[in-house]
Amino acid sequence: MEIVRTATGLEEMLQRFRLQEQTIGFVPTMGALHEGHATLVRQCAAENDVCVVSIFVNPTQFNNKEDLKHYPRTAEEDHTLLERTGADIIFAPSEEEIYPEPDKRVFDFGMLDKVMEGQFRPGHFNGVAQVVSKLFSFVRPDKAYFGEKDFQQLAIVREMVRQLELSVEIVGVPIVREADGLAMSSRNQRLSEEEKKNAAEIYRVLQESTRLSDDLTPGQLTDFVIGEINNVRGLNVEYFEIVDGNTLQLISSLEKSDFSVGCIAVFCGEVRLIDNIRYN
Ligand code: PAF
Repeated sequence: MEIVRTATGLEEMLQRFRLQEQTIGFVPTMGALHEGHATLVRQCAAENDVCVVSIFVNPTQFNNKEDLKHYPRTAEEDHTLLERTGADIIFAPSEEEIYPEPDKRVFDFGMLDKVMEGQFRPGHFNGVAQVVSKLFSFVRPDKAYFGEKDFQQLAIVREMVRQLELSVEIVGVPIVREADGLAMSSRNQRLSEEEKKNAAEIYRVLQESTRLSDDLTPGQLTDFVIGEINNVRGLNVEYFEIVDGNTLQLISSLEKSDFSVGCIAVFCGEVRLIDNIRYN
């Protein structure tokens, strides 16, 4: 496994694979890797000749400076995980390498980035699009892998690829959960043992809501999920919305969509967690 810190170094390294027409798979990350990332990397390594993983904590996608400051940075553990999961190249650039000058690009994703995360984290998805488009231009992957936990991010990356007419195939990978159901996230490292136990209630309630979905409307399911989760000590729902998985717009009836997804953001103490569940 090689570690490279510059775009030119990366290009030199990838050149020989490109010349041999080998396929390049890519997993962009912000480090603080866990089993969710490991799943992305294993799939990427299995489906491509070369597996590139980037580690870059992207400042332009943090609307909250404190969140950026506290974002876990665990380079050594990350390298160990990547070695064992089959990554070939780690691209770990500096901020200057990615943003030699401020990125002033403003993307227009229509309604996709106006809702849910977009509403509560203004500018977040523009920052994600800035960094992912730059990383794609350096790596030029055949396939890129994103976790379905960040459901809205996946929809936006697909839309960005469509708008920029990139030839990369975007692969969504199902959420990986702890044994108790908590969706794996780098942010879980910041939870105390008690908070972790409370946070597991999020998925329990989401699952329960799918069992009720034959009898309740999306509005009633929404009230149920928010009420149940807010009843758990230390949990505070920021939003829960049942949306069409393609347009991300609210749906009034589960019959109106064959791809309805409940997306949630919850504060567990100071830590903001997201999760989602599919209804049909
Ligand atoms: O999902 C993430 O970790 C980040 O948003 C990404 C895609 C690596 C861009 O910084």
